[in-house]
Amino acid sequence: MSVEEAPAVIIDNGSHTLKVGFTGEDDPKEIFRNVVQLSEGADGVIRSVGVLAPNPSSRAVSPIQRGRPCDWDAMESVWEYTFKDVLKVASEDHNVLLTDRPLSGKANREKAVQIMFEKFSTPATYMSMQATLALYGAGRTSGTVVDVGDGCTSVVPILKGTPAIEASTNVDLAGCDMVDYLAGALNVSDREQARAIMEKVCAVCGNIEKEVVNNVDFKTSTGSIINVGVERYRCGEAMFNPSVIGHQHTKPLQELIVECVASCKEVGRKDLYAYIVLAGGSTMLNGFSERLQSELSKLVPSQYRCKVVTTQHPILTVWAGGCLVAQSPMFQQSWVTKQEYEEYGADVIHRKCV
Ligand SMILES: Nc1ncnc2c1ncn2[C@@H]1O[C@H](COP(=O)(O)OP(=O)(O)OP(=O)(O)O)[C@@H](O)[C@H]1O
Ligand SMILES: [Mg+2]
Repeated sequence: MSVEEAPAVIIDNGSHTLKVGFTGEDDPKEIFRNVVQLSEGADGVIRSVGVLAPNPSSRAVSPIQRGRPCDWDAMESVWEYTFKDVLKVASEDHNVLLTDRPLSGKANREKAVQIMFEKFSTPATYMSMQATLALYGAGRTSGTVVDVGDGCTSVVPILKGTPAIEASTNVDLAGCDMVDYLAGALNVSDREQARAIMEKVCAVCGNIEKEVVNNVDFKTSTGSIINVGVERYRCGEAMFNPSVIGHQHTKPLQELIVECVASCKEVGRKDLYAYIVLAGGSTMLNGFSERLQSELSKLVPSQYRCKVVTTQHPILTVWAGGCLVAQSPMFQQSWVTKQEYEEYGADVIHRKCV
């Protein structure tokens, strides 16, 4: 099979997990933790990718923290594992579409593409902003994307496929902060235990002051019982009122959205409010979209109709959008080929990748 006929590889790089797979398939081949455990072996350092449980002599490295690449060696190990062990393909046989968070910076984009061409010899590569893909994944080309992942939350207004970069925002408040809050409030030393509590019993309520709290018992993997009370609601409340978990200087999500749209030209605001797409795993908290809708209805100027839209699998919306884009016939000329990279250098991606 020629490279043109071979499916492209889509890699959505998250702070918490990578979602990796091929165009033409409905779901990623695998979703795995973006972490590398480093330990000393007889012949040097051993790197184990995606392994959560550290052994006492290993050190965990997260290649991406709060959406920002912070260890390129570790990232390279994770991508090597992706090609060899997860997808079981030769990287030189497939075009690769990578994702990055909005406003991630030119240098980070260049480095990622450099690794793809120089280390993995990919025939062509493309770097796409997660928000744009999330919007395509949700079936639209205009709207405002709100991605609440593990390390960061981004709000990006997009009109006819073009993101308004100067109006976009990123804040360091997302799933990992809710997990930290729960671990502290419930006195749980294992963060993964706290994460399981967040994912299984936490929710966002309409009004935390008036909510009647029903405590629930959470059974841990070791069989012990943790009683969870108002923490169930406080953790998701953090996105709408960050001070409840001690983030005094972060604006509530609803304010970020309204400020972003208000800084776009008036002519586009109708479309930006009409389709506010939720992406990212932390939006899966029960009641999240209803609460956001209710908060926005208090803030959005009355001449606009405002609609918060959810997708079936918020964790996969970006990946699904990447698949759609990479297999569209129109897109094929957008790939940055290895030949272009060799001729023009890494700078070529800023001209070709939007
Ligand atoms: N059912 C659920 N309820 C609440 N939170 C969830 C649920 N499932 C997953 N999460 C949380 O979603 C987050 C992971 O989401 P996602 O995969 O979108 O993040 P990421 O892409 O790895 O990170 P980022 O986009 O911030 O770089 C984690 O904090 C995880 O605990
Ligand atoms: Mg993400």
